[in-house]
Formats: sequence, structure tokens, C-alpha cells
Amino acid sequence: MSGPILGIETTCDETSAAVLDEHGTILGMVIHSQDVHRVYGGVVPELAARDHLKRIEPVVTAALRDAGTRRRDLGAIAVAAGPGLIGALLVGVTWSRAAAFALGIPMIPVHHMEGHLFGPVLDDPGAVPPFVALLVSGGHTLLLWVPEWGRYFLMGETRDDAAGEAFDKVAKLLGLPYPGGPAIERAAAAGDPERYSFPRPMLQGGGWRRGGATPAATAQGSLDFSFSGLKTAVARTVERLAEADALDAERPHLAASFQEAVIDVLAARARAAMDIVGCDRLVLGGGVAANRALRSRLREDIGPGRLFAGSVRLSMDNGAMIARAGLFRLAAGSYGGLTDAIASVPIPGARPWEPAARLASSRPPPPSPPKGAGPSGPQISSRARTSH
Ligand code: KG4
Ligand code: ZN
Repeated sequence: MSGPILGIETTCDETSAAVLDEHGTILGMVIHSQDVHRVYGGVVPELAARDHLKRIEPVVTAALRDAGTRRRDLGAIAVAAGPGLIGALLVGVTWSRAAAFALGIPMIPVHHMEGHLFGPVLDDPGAVPPFVALLVSGGHTLLLWVPEWGRYFLMGETRDDAAGEAFDKVAKLLGLPYPGGPAIERAAAAGDPERYSFPRPMLQGGGWRRGGATPAATAQGSLDFSFSGLKTAVARTVERLAEADALDAERPHLAASFQEAVIDVLAARARAAMDIVGCDRLVLGGGVAANRALRSRLREDIGPGRLFAGSVRLSMDNGAMIARAGLFRLAAGSYGGLTDAIASVPIPGARPWEPAARLASSRPPPPSPPKGAGPSGPQISSRARTSH
């Protein structure tokens, strides 16, 4: 490829375009967050597609202007081809295909979650494999062992709601606006996280135990997540409080207690996965990675310099992460079987975790210090160890 790469993101309710140079430096980026969904309290697929159609051309024009790049100087166009809302995806993919054809350059279809995996490295050149990745968005909750780019071992995923989806649904229950994550985080700032003891789904038993988990535990799928029981517990409490006319006063505490439960689960799972593969580096991506309380808990749990989360702006859906993953796919000479817009598709190169993968890195993962090795060793906070 010669020339910068354009990245296009239209999987859900953000229309974004970014221009990166061949080394992955962001030259320009524009993110348009749709607010047509706000009155409905959630994304309306038809409205999302129509808004992408209206915005994509001005968003690309603004990103190119920002970068000081002319269309004819582009070397490739990367586009998020899935997973996502099919109507929304079709806008981005059809636009990109037409533009790439007109310019005589390749169109690279990119998996949206592989995009999130490449988000942190845009800000921090240290966010490269080997690492364990926790990807938490509105549609996915994934725990991956990444010995190298393009080889992904799935250690855990959600069995029902995604983490971001749980934030959005609980926000609705609490009468907070969409998107729920930022609204809950704001409300939680004034609340007591210990006021309500909500369940920590799947933390008790199921292979998770204090101080770490065993490879056998993952073989049983025990690093999976489940958030629907937690959501139901919040719903019951909300009903009870509403009847007693106490919901307004309790809202901050409900938000804080719910957020704390989600963070406990995410942190414990991430830490267990890191113990299993013997890697002390964690990449955090996806919209929920914007949550400051989650970031600070993970930083506290795994020790300084080991969490790679990138900026809040690049945790949310954006064209830069798609362009960065596109650069990798172009260099690898494989789009992982992606050709067109597709609503549901696994990450290319992903397969189930197997203990042998621990040794399969081209670069060996850094050795894990023995338990109790002192301040340089990974730490588990008392909160993450608590079972409820
Ligand atoms: O990755 P993303 O921008 O879009 C998808 O790929 O789904 O993630 C959006 C999700 C939403 O569910 C939103 O509520 C959640 O990320 N989110 C947050 C925060 N900011 C966004 N969740 C918790 N805390 C936040 N600060
Ligand atoms: Zn996303």
C-alpha cells in the first residue's frame, strides 16, 4: 500500500471516519454519535441506517480535511463489516466498496471487535501481544488470550447480556438516559457501592476460586460471563423502592452498587485468565472500557504499567481502530474470510482456548512471579477476592 488508509465505522450508532498513515499514526478523525435514538431509550436499527446514510459523506470529508489528505492519495479503505446492525453495516460497506472501486484501491473488511483489540495501540505503542484482552462493548463481552496479532484464543464470553448491554438496561430501569454506561457512571459517583449486595454472577463456584483459577476451570467454560441475573436483581430492588417512593433517593446507590458488581466480575475474570496463561499484561477495549472506575480497579488489581486501555475517546466506536486493524489485515494478506456486511460473525483467527496455547506464543509471555512475590508481582485487591 502506498498512501494513508481510511477507516470507516458504521456498525451501530456512531458514524466515524479516520485517516491513518502507514505506521498507524492518526492523521485525522471524526466521530458522529447519533442522538436520534435518545427519545426511544435504545438504538432503533432503521433510524441508525438512515442517519449513517446522511452522515457518511460529510464525516469522511471532514476526516480527510482534518488529516490534510486528498481522496486520490489514499492507499486503502478499511471498513467494519460486522458484527452489527445489518442496515447500518450495509451503509459503511457499500460506501467503502464504491469509493475503493472508484479510487482503484483495496477495500479491507474488518471485524468490529478486532478493531477494538487494536484501539489501545493507537495511543500506546506498548499495547502489543502477548496480552490477555478484555473486550467489553454493547454487543460483546470477550476474554481473549492473544499470543500474537491474528491468533486469538477465546477464554470466556457472555452467556446472555453483554456488559454494555447490562449498563444500558439497568440505566433504563433506573430512569437514566441512553447510552446507559456513562449515565450510570455519573450517577454512581455520588452513591455508595456497598449499599446493595447484588449478585456477582458466576463468581461463586464454577471453577473460580480465590487467588486464581486452573486451566481445567477454563476447559469447563467457567471464565464465561452472565449479566442477566444481576439485571433481574436490580429490577426487583427498583420495584420495591418505587413502591416505597424511595427510588429517587436511592438511585445513586443503586447505580454504584450495580457498577461495583459488574466491575468485580470483570476484574476477577480478567485476573483469572491472566493467571492461567501466565501473562501479566491486559488490554481493555470496547465502549465499557471508558468506565473510569473499571480502569482504576484493573490498574489496582494487576499493578502499574500492566493495563493498556488507551484513551476514553478511542474506547468508543471509531474509524481509527478499524483503520489500524485494516493495516494489520493488509500486511497479513488475509481478511480472515470477511467479504461483505454480516450481522454476526466470529473474530477471524479466533478459536477456543486450549492449555497448549499458553506455550504457542512466538514471543514467550513474561513469566508470572510466584504468589506473594512482593510489590512487583500482580496484586489482587481484597474486593476482587470477595465472594458474595
Ligand atoms: O463499543 P461501543 O461504543 O459500541 C458497541 O460496539 O456496542 O460500546 C457501547 C457500550 C454501550 O453499552 C455503553 O453504555 C457502554 O459501551 N459504555 C459504558 C461507558 N461508556 C460507554 N459503560 C460503562 N461505563 C461507561 N463510562
Ligand atoms: Zn464497539
